Amino acid sequence: MAHFTALKDFLYTQQPKDQNENDLSKVLLDLAEASKIVSKDVCRAGLVDGFLGAQGGQNIQGEEQQKLDVIADNAFIDVLEKGGAVCGIASEENEDFVSFDNDKSRSGKYVVLFDPLDGSSNIDVNVSIGTIFSIYKRISPSNQPASIDDMLQKGTAQVAAGYVLYGSSTMLVYTSGNGVNGFTLDPNTDTFCLSHADMKMPVKGRYYAMNEGNINECNPKIIDYIRYCQSRNNDYGSPYSGRYIGSLVADFHRNLIKGGIYIYPCTINAPEGRLRLLYECNPLAFISEQAGGMSSTGTARIMEIKPEKLHERVAFFTGSKSMVEKAIAFLK
Ligand code: AHG
Ligand code: MN
Ligand code: MN
Repeated sequence: MAHFTALKDFLYTQQPKDQNENDLSKVLLDLAEASKIVSKDVCRAGLVDGFLGAQGGQNIQGEEQQKLDVIADNAFIDVLEKGGAVCGIASEENEDFVSFDNDKSRSGKYVVLFDPLDGSSNIDVNVSIGTIFSIYKRISPSNQPASIDDMLQKGTAQVAAGYVLYGSSTMLVYTSGNGVNGFTLDPNTDTFCLSHADMKMPVKGRYYAMNEGNINECNPKIIDYIRYCQSRNNDYGSPYSGRYIGSLVADFHRNLIKGGIYIYPCTINAPEGRLRLLYECNPLAFISEQAGGMSSTGTARIMEIKPEKLHERVAFFTGSKSMVEKAIAFLK
């Protein structure tokens, strides 16, 4: 088998050798370790009592929590808390952010915001799901508890972001502002190995992803745009292919590799949009831009929004640059 660079070695060669950057590598390695635990849990979910199905509660978003949502959330929190490079986290599954208060973590230089398991509706049916994460430098004084201001930073302040896709293989894709790299988990060695170096999103593609069940619940300009996608008068000269997995990570990953657009506009049921700015849209926006793609609310660059609350929702248009630009043009 060809030799592939392990994530750990890749980080070592890529990062400047100052202590702060080493700490960022530590955060990324901790996230990778937690995701390996989740990957194993996802793979054997059907065999273990208490892994599949609903937890029996709702998260702060009023959404039914799945058992694996909670298991994944705990796995990431445990590993990050013990790791010591992170002073606090915010996650989809917790109403408030969590400040780590053990001696080691209190002085952690970073905060992590994450969606521990993305694509909840696909957990029980063996369809790809994921984890999405965003990393910021703390702005609160070190040795103090993490604060809400650490969490509510603009996406432009992200120092790294990524996702893990639990698909036909498990992949970790991340950026620290110097391009996008993808690592496949080798199940034989339990090692993330560089398989997709310097990923670039094609400028245009022929896939569009939207939950079209909502089409009559949107701004009519969205209907016009979807008709354009389905027509022969688009830039492809033939209808785009519709692909909607319902796991944002999986839909995004396909578009990153093949080219395409994902849209989740405002709807009657989700008047501000469905997806969460801090731990779904900002990290994917950072990756899309680093890969040459684009992410917008339809009127504003995602990463320039000043967040006002942890679980803030926004409309989301992300993918190949020329396709997102075209969608935005339809909204004018
Ligand atoms: P989550 O499972 O973390 O709540 O996120 C689900 C998200 C996203 O993954 C997906 O693209 C979208 O919500 C699906 O929503 P619909 O079922 O409304 O299409
Ligand atoms: Mn999600
Ligand atoms: Mn989730």
